[in-house]
Order: sequence, then structure tokens, then C-alpha cells
Amino acid sequence: MTRSTLRTFSPRACFAAIRTFAFVVAICLMCAKAFAAPAPIVLTGSDRRPATSLNGEWASIIDPYFSGLFSFHHEEKKNGWFMNYKAKPGDPFPTEYDFAKAPRLNVPGDWNTQRPSLMYYEGPIWYEKDFTWEPKPDTHVFLHIGAANYHSWFWVNGQKVCEHEGGFTAFNCEITQAIHAGNNFVVAAVDNTRHEDGVPGRETDWWNYGGLTREVSLIEVPESFIDQYDLHLSRSEDGVIEGWVHVVGKQAGDKAEVEIPGLHAKATADIAADGRASIHFNVHGLEPWTPETPKLYKVLIHAGHDSIDELMGFRTIETRGTEILLNGKPIFLRGVAIHAEAPYRTGRAWSDKDAETLLGWAKELGCNYVRLAHYPHDETMLRAADRMGLLVWSENPVYWALEFDNPKVLAKAEQQLDEEINTSRNHAAIILWSMANETPNTPARTQFIETLATRARGLDPTRLITAALLVRAQGTTKIVDDPLGQALDVIGVNEYIGWYEGHPDSADKTEWQIAYQKPLILSEFGAGAKAGLHGGENERWTEEYQANVYRHQLPMLNKISQLRGMSPWCLMDFRSPNRPLVGIQDEFNRKGLVSDQGQKKKAFYVLQKAYKDGSIGKAE
Ligand code: GCU
Repeated sequence: MTRSTLRTFSPRACFAAIRTFAFVVAICLMCAKAFAAPAPIVLTGSDRRPATSLNGEWASIIDPYFSGLFSFHHEEKKNGWFMNYKAKPGDPFPTEYDFAKAPRLNVPGDWNTQRPSLMYYEGPIWYEKDFTWEPKPDTHVFLHIGAANYHSWFWVNGQKVCEHEGGFTAFNCEITQAIHAGNNFVVAAVDNTRHEDGVPGRETDWWNYGGLTREVSLIEVPESFIDQYDLHLSRSEDGVIEGWVHVVGKQAGDKAEVEIPGLHAKATADIAADGRASIHFNVHGLEPWTPETPKLYKVLIHAGHDSIDELMGFRTIETRGTEILLNGKPIFLRGVAIHAEAPYRTGRAWSDKDAETLLGWAKELGCNYVRLAHYPHDETMLRAADRMGLLVWSENPVYWALEFDNPKVLAKAEQQLDEEINTSRNHAAIILWSMANETPNTPARTQFIETLATRARGLDPTRLITAALLVRAQGTTKIVDDPLGQALDVIGVNEYIGWYEGHPDSADKTEWQIAYQKPLILSEFGAGAKAGLHGGENERWTEEYQANVYRHQLPMLNKISQLRGMSPWCLMDFRSPNRPLVGIQDEFNRKGLVSDQGQKKKAFYVLQKAYKDGSIGKAE
């Protein structure tokens, strides 16, 4: 179109052209919407709802080139393996997969520890499960996924129901339109390939366990249902429980009701147009949740025809200067850091038994607190912490270096943060939301995490925001002045004096300079030791060396006046691809105080003594 012809265009013709163009765009958007499955949703307290479990054996097909989903032009196939097509004689095309004949994988479970051939596998694997269903009238049905690492796609009866990115948070796919009475099948594709623009990125110091790593089930809810709620003890008014209940598809005049039979307390509230009902009521004789007395109350939440039977503790957490106050009293967090590595069998932890074993060792150490690293742990772990009385640091997997200047990466981190907080916000045990671990001190990083911290405070103003920072050194002085500290309520600091730098006794000469008048948690320190390997206290990898590091660390830490907690790295040895030292590490990070086979190392008792005799953390 030349300049002269443009000049001759009438305004009417222009308008007609714009209108046609707008119409075409609208059509395209509608089509895209039709093929794109709805985004999965968060269902708070989903583990407290009756559900039909889909755990157990699933058929599985390894698909390194992802040819089950993508054509060789990398377009998503219309008739991919998600159709679970059964070949028929006379078909004019070959069917080159058959779930019925495929080997099985257990769900929940990472695939790496289920088959030696999959230990190092990174890529897509297909899962298929048949199930029967009897639909009830006027209900929604959700496919609940406890977690799927890392990128996952789900189809029910060949219909795409959702897609999700992020390996450590629960999500729920609406399948009401796809499910039917009688026989059904669900197909999932899970790809644990690491990406530069992933959260976490390509480098981690933990094994990239892939698969449907947490429980899978079907959850049926009424037409209008409770998707999220938040109930907590007010910080500002004594004996007041406040919060909200959010209802999807509320009917006019519907009310939300919260009842705590154990306190003879009940509150009813109108559900506003946005589906939220604000809750605020007095309770008398409430026993606040503490690690020593982890009192849990049955809490019944009703709205319309929906109800949830919760089990919750109530406590307040806040800071005052450099103090951390639990229920208004100063507390010192005697902790240890824990990866979701299953004791004894190894692989991704998911069961009550895994949680009770790990947290049982923490209690035995004398802990009142645990740092669950470096990603949101399973609801089973959090329920166990509520029950067993362990305060929790929960972390979003913003770990080491990410593409901090990439808005898409920020959106992924925000999505995972939303899922973490909205799923787990009612655990009394959780007191700290950690935004990140050991991220490089750059302006893009600081802005990225400040954005997350603001978002977390907006989502949950009742807890403390933290992150594990790196420290810099000037001679024998450790300086904590990372600008990110501004955005945090509690400063977490990682250091490895005596392991990655210096000798165990280097700690004796170390001074600390902290730029913030805020509570400080020593979120990581430690040393590697092979359980059962003995020798001189300056002989690396021996239990004596690790114990020696602890013996020098504790008095150093006691000199830090604003130290309000610690979580040595770490409770149990865990698998890591960065640890190839044969005969010592054998692909395990050996900084555990307990080996993956439950052997307690000498340092376990050094820390236990300090926690039990009160020689560390005099704040209380
Ligand atoms: C880091 C990191 C951990 C890692 C540990 C180690 O500080 O946060 O994820 O495992 O050091 O090197 O053992």
C-alpha cells in the first residue's frame, strides 16, 4: 500500500477495516481459549476433604523426545498419547504406544529411585491410570495433584484439563466437563527438564527427582464451594480469631460459618460479592499453640452446601526490634535444616512416616523449629509439624541464580508463592515465609525479591518474611549488609566457616557486623562427614571433623547479640548431583547430622547437648 493510496482512504473504509480486524482477533482469542485448558486452582485444606485416591501403580512410558505430545514441528499434537488410543485391526495408521502393556510407576513417588534406569533421567514421562466414577448432581470434580516435578500436563478421557509449571506446590484441575459415569482414564505428562528460565533454575544442590511426587486424588465439591480460607489469632486484639472464607459460585444470601466446638465458639458472616466473608469473633479459654504445647482445635467451616473439617492451632508471631515474639513472648529458634529426602529408602519424601521420622529426629535434637529447604514441603510434613510442635521456615524455590530480569520468571515465582501461601496458610507451625536462598547481590535480584516480599505480605500479613542471604567478609569480620535485608522482617544468613573456608577454629576469631537492627537467624552452617568414618578432629569427612566444626560454631554464634535462631545444614544426608566423591559422598551431600540410613553422627550429639542444656540461644 503506497503513500498516495493511503491519502485516498475514506474514514468510513478505515472504520470498516478496523472493525473486521477486531472481529478476527476476537475469534482467534476465543479459539485459543477453547483449546487452552483452564488454569488449575488452589484449594486450601484439600487434604482435609473427603477424596478418591488415585495413588498406587500408574502405567508409564518414557518419552525423551516428547513425541507423544509434540509433532516434529514442535506443535502440540491433537491426537497425542493423551488419547490413550487402543490400536484396532485395519487402522489406517500405526499406534506406537500402549499404556496397558507399559511398565508401572508408583504414585506418589519420584521416578528416579523406582528404576535404576531412571536415576539420571531428565525429560518427559507419561503416566496413565484408569478409574471409575459415579458423578453426583450439581457438583464440581477436581483432579488434585499434591505436586508434579517440574512441568506437567493432564488429560481426562483425552480432554486436556490443565497444565502446570513448578515442582513443589499443590494444584487442582477442574475435570467436571471431562469426567463421566463409569470407566474413565487420566493421562499425565511430567517433564523434569531443568530450564534457565525455570524456578528453580538449572543449578541446584539437590537431586532433580521427577514425577508425580505427591498424592493424586479426585475431590468432589458442591456447586458453590469454599476454595480458600484464612483463620488466625489476632495480634492486636486479645482472644480474637479473625480471617476470611472465600466461596466460589456463592448463592444469594449464602453465609459462611466458622465453628470451634472445643471453645464453644461460632461466627457467621455474609459472603460479599467477591465471594469473601470476613471472620472476626471472640474466643475464651483458647490455649495458644506453642512447640511445647501444640494444641490443635477442630474447626468446622461451612458455606452453602460445602464444609471443611479443619484441625488448627492458634498463635501469634511478630518481631519487636531484634526479638521474635511467639504469643507475645521472646523465642529462640533451635532448629535444623531439612530437605524432603525420604529417610532410608531415599527419594522424594511424601508420607506421614517420612515426616514423622525426619521431624522425630529434629525433636530428639532438642529443636523447636525447622527450616524446610529450599522449596515448599508436603502438607503431610506441615501437618506433622503442627502436631509434633515444630515451628517452620517455608521457602519458595528462588535458589541461587535465576533470570532475575526476566518478567516471565518473576511471574513463575509469584505463581509458586501464591500456591505455597494459599495452600498452607492455616498451619500454626509456619511462622516464616522465605523468599529465596543465596541469591547474588544484584539490583535485578533485589528488585525481583522485593516484589515477592511485598506480594507475600499482601497475601499474608500475619507471618514474618525472610530470606537466606550470603555474607561478605573483610578479614575475619563477617558483614551482613545485603540490601535485600531492608525488605525482610527477619534476616537469614548462610556461612560455612570451617568447611568451605578456613578451619573449624577460624570461627573463634570471627566477628560479625550486621547492618540491620532485626532478628537474625543463622540459616545454614555445617560440614560434611561420612557416617562411621572416624579420625582426627582436623581430618575432613570424619565425624570428628564435623563435630569439631559445630563445637567452634556454637560459641561464635552466641556472641551475635541479635541471633534469634539457627538451622544448621542439615538434618539428614540427601542426594545431590554435585557430590561425586566415591566412597564418601557417592552422590549424597554428607552434611547431615544423621545419614540417609539413620546413623547419628557425633555432631548430632554436640548440637543436642547445646539445645538441651540451653548453652545456645539464651534469648528465652
Ligand atoms: C548452600 C546451599 C545448600 C547446599 C549447601 C552445601 O549453602 O544453600 O543448598 O546444599 O550450601 O553446599 O552443602
